[in-house]
Amino acid sequence: MSESAAKPRPEFRNIHVSQILKYRMPGPAIVSILHRISGALLFLVGIPFILYLFQQSLTSELSFERYQAVVSHWFAKLVLLGLAWGFLHHLLAGIRFLFLDLHMGCDLPSARKSAAIVLFASLILTALVGLKIFGVF
Ligand code: HEM
Repeated sequence: MSESAAKPRPEFRNIHVSQILKYRMPGPAIVSILHRISGALLFLVGIPFILYLFQQSLTSELSFERYQAVVSHWFAKLVLLGLAWGFLHHLLAGIRFLFLDLHMGCDLPSARKSAAIVLFASLILTALVGLKIFGVF
């Protein structure tokens, strides 16, 4: 009998806070939690920040200069990078959820594969946006 068959896998039901570190979350669960976090980030930070920048860029020449000063600051670039990740993750995970809602890709191997694709693709696209924001190309 192999080692894994001899040792029963740990079961977690209604986990206690002390078990959180031992609990290995599967990819679909990580995508789901990040989808909620990214939705909240876009709504609570994204909308006010983008509207502020939009207003500053349009109101007057002076406010346009302020807009340029803000967006060229490293911290604002970091916030924009975080928002870019939030948008890209939310978009890709949202499309994945819409497919699941149509009962497509619901079996475990497909759900795991699509979750890994969403996590990986959103990070790669965010890295590309980051290179653009920080002026590499
Ligand atoms: C870019 C295209 C977008 C797509 C494809 C998309 C897709 C979705 C889907 C399918 C859900 C429901 C998820 C579920 O079944 O639990 C959802 C939830 C949500 N979305 Fe979006 N969304 C998009 C853009 C946005 C934007 C721009 C914002 C905010 C400014 C946003 C904020 C939220 C929030 C707060 C929720 C609720 C999250 C939750 O309760 O877990 N979404 N989105």
